[in-house]
Amino acid sequence: MNTRYIDLISQITLWDHEYYVLDDPSVSDAEYDKAFKELLDLEAAQPELITPESPSQRVGATPIQDYIKIEHSVRMLSLSNTFSFEETYAFFEKAAKELDYDSISFNLYSEPKLDGLAISIYYENGNLVYAATRGDGQIGEDVTHTIKTIKSIPLKLASDKPPKRIDIRGEVFMPKKAFEKLNRLALQNNTKLFVNPRNAAAGSIRQMNPKIAAERDLQFIPYGIGTYDGEIEFTQHSAIMNCLHGLGFMQNPHCYNFIGTFENLTKNYEFMAEHRSELPMEIDGIVYKIDDLELQTKLGFIARSPKWAVARKFPAQNETTQLLAVDFQVGRTGVLTPVARLAPVFVGGVTVSNATLHNMDEIDRLGLCIGDEVEIQRAGDVIPKIVKVTATGDTRTPIIMPEQCPVCNSTVERTEGKASYRCSGGLTCGAQSAERIKHYASRKFMNINNLGTKLIEILYETGTLKTIADIYQLKSADIADLEGQGLKSAQNVLDSIEASKTTKLGIFIGALGIHEVGEESAKNLAKYFCTLDAISKATHKDLLTVPDIGPVMAKNIEHFFKDETNQTIISNIIAAGVSWPDEIPPSPNEQPLLGQTWVLTGTLEKLTRSEAKEILENLGAKVAGSVSKKTDCLVAGRDAGSKLKNAEALGIKILDENGFLDAFDIKL
Ligand code: IVH
Repeated sequence: MNTRYIDLISQITLWDHEYYVLDDPSVSDAEYDKAFKELLDLEAAQPELITPESPSQRVGATPIQDYIKIEHSVRMLSLSNTFSFEETYAFFEKAAKELDYDSISFNLYSEPKLDGLAISIYYENGNLVYAATRGDGQIGEDVTHTIKTIKSIPLKLASDKPPKRIDIRGEVFMPKKAFEKLNRLALQNNTKLFVNPRNAAAGSIRQMNPKIAAERDLQFIPYGIGTYDGEIEFTQHSAIMNCLHGLGFMQNPHCYNFIGTFENLTKNYEFMAEHRSELPMEIDGIVYKIDDLELQTKLGFIARSPKWAVARKFPAQNETTQLLAVDFQVGRTGVLTPVARLAPVFVGGVTVSNATLHNMDEIDRLGLCIGDEVEIQRAGDVIPKIVKVTATGDTRTPIIMPEQCPVCNSTVERTEGKASYRCSGGLTCGAQSAERIKHYASRKFMNINNLGTKLIEILYETGTLKTIADIYQLKSADIADLEGQGLKSAQNVLDSIEASKTTKLGIFIGALGIHEVGEESAKNLAKYFCTLDAISKATHKDLLTVPDIGPVMAKNIEHFFKDETNQTIISNIIAAGVSWPDEIPPSPNEQPLLGQTWVLTGTLEKLTRSEAKEILENLGAKVAGSVSKKTDCLVAGRDAGSKLKNAEALGIKILDENGFLDAFDIKL
């Protein structure tokens, strides 16, 4: 290897670290540029030298063609929100109770809640392998090409003994100054302004072309890890954060460690609220985490959020403006939603000109008329809402639900026992059919990449796509003949339809758009009934036994599958080749560890921690983070420490890695 080349890489990497992570440069721009040019010249002369960790490799030469999905080996979770000291305190009081503590005597670690987007970056033996968005928590999108352009993310971890595998989770965000610069440029160039730094960051990361992302001055700050297979056995979250800084990442400013008393929580919040505006990035609250990892493991999760961490959000921002008009939007299921059209107003960093009004009861509750002056509120990602009427208008026009659907003219009916009104047109209503097709093809569901919302609308209007089953009858000419399309884009659409045909039962059920059946409930139905046939034949009583499914959803599911049009549509889709493997019900003999609690410790040689955990969970065991009297068995790898000692003292069964693999006849 050319030693000058290696020296240049480490020198530039160090300077990047000083500049982008430590904010403490040690060389002039000219000296930096000179070294970078020398590196590029060397690589141009001897391309065989180029290594992935070279700073020149941050910006790839060609844009990506498509987004690849990546499954997170450890789910990426979200946080519950709290809005007052009492709520935050109550959250940790509940945790203390669950841990059998008399009071909140454990340490909390506070971190600013960065307002950007969550990313997971996976490193193997210290080298960045890929980066993915959070997606639905389980499956995200590969954004390695844009993530690599962020200079505060090391391409190689700064350690002689990096973890074998680690995925580092954190927030990508656009600093306030970079956002202002971007919008100044947009004004100069007469292009669209970005609404806020979060959207600008998300838009930049999802760029196909890494060159654009590279120009956007994005930053990344870690807040946790997912998969981890390394030598250090962490016992505290704060230790992980310090270690990540040592590996080359930025540190979140203003993190504190304190006992979670009411007084400490109050002081911390007040301090952060006061200093928020001085920070270089937008934050929308504070995250409090129990620092002790053993306590975190004991508490675990509920739904998608940990029971050991919570967000305290800063209060919503309010402004007043005038209600100019109310339109009625028809959704996928035919529900008409009133939408307020407002005189544009700047609130919480965004210009707001629309707000949802939910339903007619909400309008009555507010006593709202067109022409009134209203107070609007925006909190975090929540869609702006009208909180109250602050002054009645000089001329006041009452808001009336139309008798006919604004899209198809069918009669509008009130849903029995509910505040909602629905168009009675069903699939004859353009809004409903087109929206259903969009829902079906969307990324979350059938993921028909190149069949976007605009194209669906056009194909719907031309009469080519009337139902979701028509997607599979599309011919190249249906698309190629449209304005702005051609044979190549038509082929791309047909290819992505073909690629989407192999799916999962839960995804397909969710894609059907049964009223109120969301992603999670659809997955539960698939898991519980295992086949489409069983779901479609399930009785109301059967459906009620599925987690999360209540009487309203059960009724909707039953109705959906009894409807003959729906039955035909589903048969046509299946006849067109859409398929999925049936879910396999776990049989008791395959789960010999059902009801048992196992603990993993030390370094495993053949398996990663998460692989071992997955194997144990598939065998039916619960995997805990600490040894107690309730532990059934400890799998102890190399250099096991206190957990091994505890298990020995308690007389708990101990297996080494090979013993564990042999016991269940696991062949790798
Ligand atoms: S911890 C299991 N820490 O907030 C806990 N999240 O509302 C996972 N966020 O999806 C999250 N700053 O994108 C954590 N210091 C911080 C954060 C943070 C921003 C984001 C993150 C998460 C969202 C939840």
